[in-house]
Amino acid sequence: MANVAIIGAQWGDEGKGKIVDWLASRADIVVRFQGGHNAGHTLVVGNQTYKLSLLPSGLVRGKMGIIGNGVVLDPEALFNEISRVREQGLDVGPHNLRIAENVPLILPLHSALDKAREVARGKHAIGTTGRGIGPAYEDKVARRAIRLCDLAEPETLSHKLDELLLHHNTLLKGLGAEPFDKQELLDRLLGLAPKLLPYAEAVWERLDEARHENKRVMFEGAQAVMLDVDHGTYPYVTSSNTVAGNAAAGAGVGPHFIGTVLGIAKAYTTRVGSGPFPTELFDEIGKGIGERGREFGTVTGRPRRCGWFDAALVRQAVKVGGVQGLTLTKLDVLDGIPELKICTGYRIDGEVFRRLPAGLAAQAKAEPIYEVLEGWTQSTKGARSWAQLPATAIKYVRRIEELVEAPVALLSTSPERDDTIMVTDPFAG
Ligand code: IMP
Repeated sequence: MANVAIIGAQWGDEGKGKIVDWLASRADIVVRFQGGHNAGHTLVVGNQTYKLSLLPSGLVRGKMGIIGNGVVLDPEALFNEISRVREQGLDVGPHNLRIAENVPLILPLHSALDKAREVARGKHAIGTTGRGIGPAYEDKVARRAIRLCDLAEPETLSHKLDELLLHHNTLLKGLGAEPFDKQELLDRLLGLAPKLLPYAEAVWERLDEARHENKRVMFEGAQAVMLDVDHGTYPYVTSSNTVAGNAAAGAGVGPHFIGTVLGIAKAYTTRVGSGPFPTELFDEIGKGIGERGREFGTVTGRPRRCGWFDAALVRQAVKVGGVQGLTLTKLDVLDGIPELKICTGYRIDGEVFRRLPAGLAAQAKAEPIYEVLEGWTQSTKGARSWAQLPATAIKYVRRIEELVEAPVALLSTSPERDDTIMVTDPFAG
């Protein structure tokens, strides 16, 4: 038996939804281990398009979904999403969705603080999704978070809300935002309790059983390595560890249980939100990639910034994320571009770097060093074998493999689930 962890290898939106869905059909359990409803995974199944933010993608394939303790959970967002997918015909309930009893909750005050702080940052805004992710993780490490299990203990909840509000209302008032009323929050949470608690359990026990029963588990990462709170382009990152190593802590399993780590990267680069992006394109080519790739944020609706494939960046993500196989998505978006560029490193103040330095000023000065490759005129959309790809497209993929120092395990050539070229089976271990 081998398990698989899937993580983004750029700045998110790499098309993880499709690959997760493709692999979920062969897994027994799908686990989310970090992030929250800031994620946006689009799954196209036949004529239905599912847009998932919080729910593990495996639910679409009738698999057991688990939300691990490493996630931050907004109960209202969860129920809205469940209603939405139920309307599309999906069966979701406590029988196939289990949530870690110790998961920290996102409350309305988190999103209020997230937004108020972004306004206060002015031109230095991070471009967060405004969903309260950062403030909720801050409360977790500050040991004042309300956790799912607290909903079963009204007295604990009441006492914890006092502590939480002392902190948040002071901040909110300081930022000129409206403070929150304790009784209103308490009533709201106690009102949610009967609906939410049936989903709660010690998910680590279920995963331990799965280990004994040789079940296949897939760990579904959200965001991406370059948005990792430690390894990403800090502070323009999300507030969780997005690397596969966090699947162990974020689900309650040992590190050996994670299995093969698969990184997903687009055949070019995109980014939503602010922060450094050395290969960003401001010309017609960038515009064309954005239009053909339909590059709009699933959660924010904002147009994504587009640029050339940055092999130095993905190589870094491969190393710190422990990526053993790469999935390259959206190759077809590059169809028809006569010349393609791949960034192999950066020049900063005359010095050559093979990685993006950590300092903000250095990152701002990083000039990409490009290798130019011949493009292809034929369409690669929907290709299902190497034989269906033009020689120059194969060359492009092979060059990426060399530069990022990871083999391409899967190649995705359209949003359709079956338009995927499998080179190696990630579940083979
Ligand atoms: P937060 O996660 O809402 O705090 O946002 C922090 C940064 O991560 C911002 O630049 C967001 O645009 C980015 N971000 C968060 N979630 C995603 C995602 O799922 N895809 C791409 N970017 C994301």
